[in-house]
Amino acid sequence: MTSEQTFIAVKPDGVQRGLIGPIVSRFENRGFKLVAIKLVTPSKEHLEKHYADLSDKPFFKGLITYMGSGPVCAMVWEGRDVVKTGRAILGATNPLASAPGTIRGDFAIDVGRNVCHGSDAVESAQKEIALWFDKGEVQQYKQAQFDWIY
Ligand code: RTP
Repeated sequence: MTSEQTFIAVKPDGVQRGLIGPIVSRFENRGFKLVAIKLVTPSKEHLEKHYADLSDKPFFKGLITYMGSGPVCAMVWEGRDVVKTGRAILGATNPLASAPGTIRGDFAIDVGRNVCHGSDAVESAQKEIALWFDKGEVQQYKQAQFDWIY
């Protein structure tokens, strides 16, 4: 089985609205494996690295302020095609375009308060995991129900 990892974060609005549990549940229910999780209030410098690709966007400054305004729940999830499927579980970036049944489609309205983040490609996932986690923080274990999921 080819497996991959993705970086998923519950943003400060999601943490403060009590949405860590529902978001974790959606990934667990689907059969993905949680291999790292922590609460962290990211610094401006850290967020500027994370969102470096968006530095010329008009919403960049507001995005950095929003993302640094409180704890973020940073996670690494593992499984087959988890990068692409993780984005599908999150829903479209703009919640008004997110299908019902997705996290943003069920829990958000405003693109600037869209409760979660997910890596958009395998390569960016690897970079984001390395930025948010030390190697020793990412666990390796066999999922008890693995043989039933795959
Ligand atoms: P994310 O990184 O949070 O998963 O979002 P994404 O890839 O789906 O979207 P991206 O274009 O990378 O945008 C990153 C985050 O910036 C905020 N945003 N605000 N005001 C605006 O028009 C606007 N556009 C994007 C969102 O919080 C988005 O998730």
